[in-house]
Amino acid sequence: MNSLTNKKVLVTGGAGFIGSHLVDRIIQENPSDIHVVDNFFLGEEENLEDAHKMRPDLEVFRLDASDLAAMRDLVEEKAIEVVFNLAVIPLPTSLKYPVWTVNVNIGLALTFCELARTNSIETLIHSSSSEAYGSAKTIPMNEDHPMNPKTPYAASKLAGDELVLSYIRTFGIDAAVVRPFNNYGPRQNPGRYAGIIPIVVKKLKKNEPIEIFGDGEQTRDYIFVKETADAFVKVYQNNASRGKVLNIATGKEITINDLVAKLLEILGKQDHPVFHSEDRIGDVRRHCGGVDLAKDLIGFQPHVMPEQGLLETALWYQERL
Ligand SMILES: NC(=O)c1ccc[n+]([C@@H]2O[C@H](COP(=O)([O-])OP(=O)(O)OC[C@H]3O[C@@H](n4cnc5c(N)ncnc54)[C@H](O)[C@@H]3O)[C@@H](O)[C@H]2O)c1
Repeated sequence: MNSLTNKKVLVTGGAGFIGSHLVDRIIQENPSDIHVVDNFFLGEEENLEDAHKMRPDLEVFRLDASDLAAMRDLVEEKAIEVVFNLAVIPLPTSLKYPVWTVNVNIGLALTFCELARTNSIETLIHSSSSEAYGSAKTIPMNEDHPMNPKTPYAASKLAGDELVLSYIRTFGIDAAVVRPFNNYGPRQNPGRYAGIIPIVVKKLKKNEPIEIFGDGEQTRDYIFVKETADAFVKVYQNNASRGKVLNIATGKEITINDLVAKLLEILGKQDHPVFHSEDRIGDVRRHCGGVDLAKDLIGFQPHVMPEQGLLETALWYQERL
C-alpha cells in the first residue's frame, strides 16, 4: 500500500469537475504539498474554494498541462512526486475543433509519461474515459471490451491511455489508468458542455420543456463524483493497479428517460413536459461499466445510491443556476 500522506501531489485539471473533488479528497490524506495546474478552459476558481479553506498553502498554476517544458519546470521546482492527470478538452469541443482537441488530449498524456520516464515524477495516475469503448457490445463493459471510440474526443482518450500503457511496458514507469464512466455531482459545468442533470434543473427553473436527444432509451452508468474521487486515491494506494486500466462505475445502467423521470420525481415536478429530438452525433447507445477488476484490485465499492447523489446534485444546481 502507498500513502499520499506527506507526498507532494499535483492534480491537472484540478479546477474542473472531477479534479476539484479529487483535490478535496486528497487533502484528507494530509499530503505535504498539493498543487493544481489548470488552464481554466472549463475550470472554475470557485470549485477550489473548499480546498483553499482546508489548505491555504494550495497553489493553483494557470498553465497548459500539455506543455512539456512548462510542466518539467513546475514539477522539478515543486519536487512533485505524484501526478493525477485529469485535464481534458471535452467531447463537444472535439466535434467543432477535432484537430486541436486531439492534439491537446494526447499531449496531456504524453507530457506526464515523459516526466515519469525521466524520473521527474514518481507516479502517474492518468484519467481515461468510458467513451473510449464506444457503444456497448456486451453489458457490463469490462476492461477487455472491444475499443470502438466514436468521436475524436473518445479516440484521443484511448490514444492517451495507450501511450501510458506503452510507457509502462517500454520504460517501466509507475503508472495506472483510471477509466471513469459518466459522473454526476456538484460542480459539473452547467454551461455549454453540461450534463443532463443541470440541464433538467435549468429547464425547470425557466419553466421550459426538457429536451431528450433521441428516444431516451440510451443508457448510462452514472457514478457520484465523490465516489470517483475516492477511487482515484485507492488506485494510487494499491500497487496492484499498476500497469492496468481500471473501470470506475457503479455496474448499474439507467436510461436517460428513467433518469429524467427520477429527477423530476425527486424535485416534485412529475408533470413537467419532456420532448424528444434528433439523436446527437456521436452519442453512444448503451453504457454500463464492469467493476469487478476495481473491486478485486483496489477494494472499490461504490455505495452512493443514484437517488441520494441526484438530490445533492440537483440542490447544488438549484442554488446556482
Ligand atoms: N465527467 C465525466 O462524466 C467523465 C467521464 C469519464 C471520464 N472523465 C474524465 O475525467 C477527467 C476530468 O473530467 P471532468 O469531467 O472533470 O472535466 P472538466 O472539463 O470539468 O475538467 C477538466 C479540467 O481540465 C482543464 N484543462 C483543459 N485543458 C487543459 C490544459 N491543456 N492544461 C491544463 N488544464 C486543462 C479545464 O479547464 C478543466 O478545469 C478527464 O480526463 C475526463 O476525460 C470524465
